[in-house]
Amino acid sequence: MTRPADPSPVSPPRYGCAPGGWPLLGHLPRLVFRPLAFLDSLPGHGDVVRVRMGTRLVHVVSHPELVRRVFTDRRSFDRSGVLYEKVRALLGNGLATCPNAEHRDQRRVLQPAFHPSLMDRYAAVMTAETQALTARWRPGAVVDVTEEAFRLTTAVAVRTLFSAGITPRAAEELREALEVLLRGLYTRVVAPAVDRVPSPARRRYRRALARWRTGVAAIVAAYRAAGVDHGDALSLLLAFRDERGRALSDAELGDQVATLVLAGAETTSSVVAWALRLLADHPGAAARLHAELDAVLAGGPVTRADLPRLPYTADVVREALRLYPPAWAITRTTTRGTELAGMPLPPGSIVICCLYLLHRRRELFPEPDLFDPGRWAAGEVPRDAWLPFGVGAGKCVGDAFGTAEATLAIAAIASRWHLTPVAPRPPRPVPRLVLSPGPQPMRLAERTPGAARSSNCKEQKP
Ligand code: HEM
Repeated sequence: MTRPADPSPVSPPRYGCAPGGWPLLGHLPRLVFRPLAFLDSLPGHGDVVRVRMGTRLVHVVSHPELVRRVFTDRRSFDRSGVLYEKVRALLGNGLATCPNAEHRDQRRVLQPAFHPSLMDRYAAVMTAETQALTARWRPGAVVDVTEEAFRLTTAVAVRTLFSAGITPRAAEELREALEVLLRGLYTRVVAPAVDRVPSPARRRYRRALARWRTGVAAIVAAYRAAGVDHGDALSLLLAFRDERGRALSDAELGDQVATLVLAGAETTSSVVAWALRLLADHPGAAARLHAELDAVLAGGPVTRADLPRLPYTADVVREALRLYPPAWAITRTTTRGTELAGMPLPPGSIVICCLYLLHRRRELFPEPDLFDPGRWAAGEVPRDAWLPFGVGAGKCVGDAFGTAEATLAIAAIASRWHLTPVAPRPPRPVPRLVLSPGPQPMRLAERTPGAARSSNCKEQKP
């Protein structure tokens, strides 16, 4: 990547207001129906832009210094307010959703489950599950890559979290419930009124929530009853004792499990699905990837030990995370009077850090809309330009897990399969809790390792 000469290439932040907006609804219709087109229009008005969501005002931040400040100034910006209440109603009060006051204690609970010494065991599950997934694939068949990636990451989440005592049927039921919940959550976060009107969608959502809670409670109960260390994340959580020797209650365990699966599964599946689509649309990048995979794997399966020798594969993941950060918009609420870009914000103001906009700033990434994994090989990016996992004390605890999972999945799939989109039109990103590419039917063809041509991968826009 051509690194900008100025180490802080971004001008001081400007505050602005999004124009237009409907009476009562504000910018909500545009945010719901044409979300990315609306977001793309915001930088033209400032680095912090005031947007009206119904009767609420929110401040959308895309300036690197301010994104860092919102993430790290935990005395002014908290995970609280009406948006987090909604998310907590689904996830429970787990690490990804708890207010700052509880965060340190909760992080101590979960951190051991992500110790580097456990990564080999997790990576073995990732490899096995990717093999199980692709073993069902047949040349000529059409699969929805988004759906398949989600199937993979929910299966990995279930097997790394609770490796024992869950039947394939129970795992599938949990996965289905997750799907409904994740689809419904975003709508409920941006338009809470949908929950007040009886409808089939509301019934479906509530049924899924009940199924999810019962399913997780049953697994926790089975683990407690067995009293065996299964060497997985749930066993670690069950063995946890705080400084007063207290164990986690069933409710606390359920919340942590929900947090982990929901924070980890769709984020990772989204980056896998985006990367596969971007590669299908950029044959030059795909050829470079194939060349690397063929040279290193020689047609064999990929394991975690191969990852250091797959730098281009890692850059494909990095670049997909840049263009389509799964956690595309992260909210905070101000807990005391503060300011952003000179605009005073009273306590209770809602701030959204928009990583999607941050990652596409021209001063930070030349040709920002271009899918160019090669840009990462040439050097470091400016500080705070690429923050798909957040920054500070609440930075993603599963960053290494998610990165390894996405890289292994892409290596395993791309080394053996050619995927051709059935519909040539570009995917229409669906911003839910994560930024998903939406359904992506692709036709499968087996590839012969060694058939790769190397190529320069500067290509058209994604
Ligand atoms: C590519 C995949 C992933 C992306 C892009 C991602 C992104 C993020 C981001 C941006 C945050 C910070 C949110 C905030 O500050 O409010 C976060 C937090 C978190 N993530 Fe991830 N994540 C990924 C994978 C995972 C995985 C695989 C897991 C678990 C297995 C996980 C579990 C969590 C948890 C528990 C938190 C809360 C951390 C804390 O507050 O201390 N994530 N993630």
